[in-house]
Amino acid sequence: MTVGSASEALVPALQLQGVGRRFGALQALRDVTMAVAPGERRAILGPNGAGKTTLFNVVAGDFPPTSGTIHLYGTEVTHLQPHLRTRLGLTRTYQNSQLFMGLTVADSLYLAGRGVRGGRFSMLRPRAADPALVRGREIAETVHLGEVYDRSVGSLSHGQQRQLEVGMALAGNPRLLMLDEPAAGLSRGERTLLIDLLRSLPRDVTVILVEHDMDVALAAADRVTVMQEGAIVVEGSPDEIQANTTVQDIYLGHHVGTHHG
Ligand SMILES: Nc1ncnc2c1ncn2[C@@H]1O[C@H](COP(=O)(O)OP(=O)(O)OP(=O)(O)O)[C@@H](O)[C@H]1O
Ligand SMILES: [Mg+2]
Repeated sequence: MTVGSASEALVPALQLQGVGRRFGALQALRDVTMAVAPGERRAILGPNGAGKTTLFNVVAGDFPPTSGTIHLYGTEVTHLQPHLRTRLGLTRTYQNSQLFMGLTVADSLYLAGRGVRGGRFSMLRPRAADPALVRGREIAETVHLGEVYDRSVGSLSHGQQRQLEVGMALAGNPRLLMLDEPAAGLSRGERTLLIDLLRSLPRDVTVILVEHDMDVALAAADRVTVMQEGAIVVEGSPDEIQANTTVQDIYLGHHVGTHHG
């Protein structure tokens, strides 16, 4: 068993090799090669249209890449159905909220734990000892929603709704959690709470976070991958990314510390 677990630790949670995706004449992803280690917190940073969501879509299996290969925990999944990737431990959130405003926090977490995406919830009457209900309660505490457990989703603040989305993703017990701009539209205070939440997630969950905001990406991640026009331009630690002049050019249009006159 020792040999098995030692070699397993070397297998990346996610590995992309030369991944490309073309939409007609548009090359939305070009030659993307990257590996994310188990337990890592990785941020994908880049301007509008850089290909961040497209990267998530090909990893989740919403559509296949037009070139290259994708491995999840050593298993090739390049052309695998999305639900089979879910079975391998992959869960992703969407850039636009997928919440049901009329449900309570409790129902949302319970249903996500049962693998139900909206719809047939009125047929399910959980009993207090139902493990999915117990787990939902635990997750509510993990994502700091214990105090609003019985409130409707529509009555939550925007920040609490984003926390709930992370919670619902966790309810499926993912090994690899991919979050598409979870901090979008949040206030500074809500952002800080969300970063703390992401940092406090159990280390057996690997997290890949798409972010638009450099501050959130640098604060939440161990390593950062910067994309532009479909390609990876830089990858490194938050410190390396912050000091990188190419990244400064992309984000600021000029080098920090360049003074005129
Ligand atoms: N299904 C699609 N069909 C055609 N073009 C697409 C499709 N999905 C994405 N694109 C194009 O691919 C490019 C990358 O888009 P993508 O959504 O991946 O960018 P992004 O980095 O997530 O941007 P944002 O920060 O705005 O979310 C864009 O030019 C976009 O218009
Ligand atoms: Mg996007």
